[in-house]
Amino acid sequence: MKILTAVNLRKIYGKGDTAVRALDGVELAVEKGEFVAIVGTSGSGKSTLLHMIGGLDVPTSGTVTVDGQELNRMTDEQLTIFRRRNIGFVFQQYNLVPMLNVWENIILPVKLDGKRVEKDYVEEIVSTLGLSEKLSNLPSALSGGQQQRVAIARALASKPAVLLADEPTGNLDSRTSQDVLGLLKMTGDQFHQTIVMITHNEEIAQLADRILRIEDGRIVSGSERRHSYGKGRE
Ligand SMILES: Nc1ncnc2c1ncn2[C@@H]1O[C@H](COP(=O)(O)OP(=O)(O)OP(=O)(O)O)[C@@H](O)[C@H]1O
Ligand SMILES: [Mg+2]
Repeated sequence: MKILTAVNLRKIYGKGDTAVRALDGVELAVEKGEFVAIVGTSGSGKSTLLHMIGGLDVPTSGTVTVDGQELNRMTDEQLTIFRRRNIGFVFQQYNLVPMLNVWENIILPVKLDGKRVEKDYVEEIVSTLGLSEKLSNLPSALSGGQQQRVAIARALASKPAVLLADEPTGNLDSRTSQDVLGLLKMTGDQFHQTIVMITHNEEIAQLADRILRIEDGRIVSGSERRHSYGKGRE
């Protein structure tokens, strides 16, 4: 089942001579449960694409459908609610609330949505991510990798249909990046999450089921890894 599709997506910033074609006809289809990495040089349109498929910004033309719902048919208010319920974001900056402890940070979006916190489920995520001992800490008392894991736990807690990550390990050293990504992949599998992740790091990209390359606002290649490079052959 396709959980996310983009059809002929275009985004042009500005007008006339200074117009930038950030996305130039992107087609994308992501299966439920798939882990897709997006790679490409700086300025190629990766963040723009993530913002469009996450409903954070509006494309110039084209459509985005998440879990059967077309984002461009929604009002701003509907989109805000849809995003909160269906899409999880992890950014390079962790965006944790400094005055709230780890547990409070993780459950904040669920509370904002007025929903009951599924304690067992969130505790499972927390323990998978190795945060059980840190729940009463403030973010300032955590390492970068730990803060990143809190951001991932927070994104997973509301059970989003799709998890979108923009350079989630951009601030981490390569060892910690591998660890955090390993956990992201593991929680993704365990909780049947669909993940679309931007990265500059080829090693990190190799953890995905599929790598899409974007150049000048277009997807230029997409390789399926799961079948052609199975573990047994490495
Ligand atoms: N708000 C904006 N207004 C004008 N131009 C923009 C805006 N946001 C992005 N752009 C332009 O669109 C193009 C794509 O930008 P985008 O942020 O998607 O690149 P990226 O692939 O994420 O790069 P990086 O790897 O450096 O994060 C760039 O040329 C950028 O300058
Ligand atoms: Mg970017």
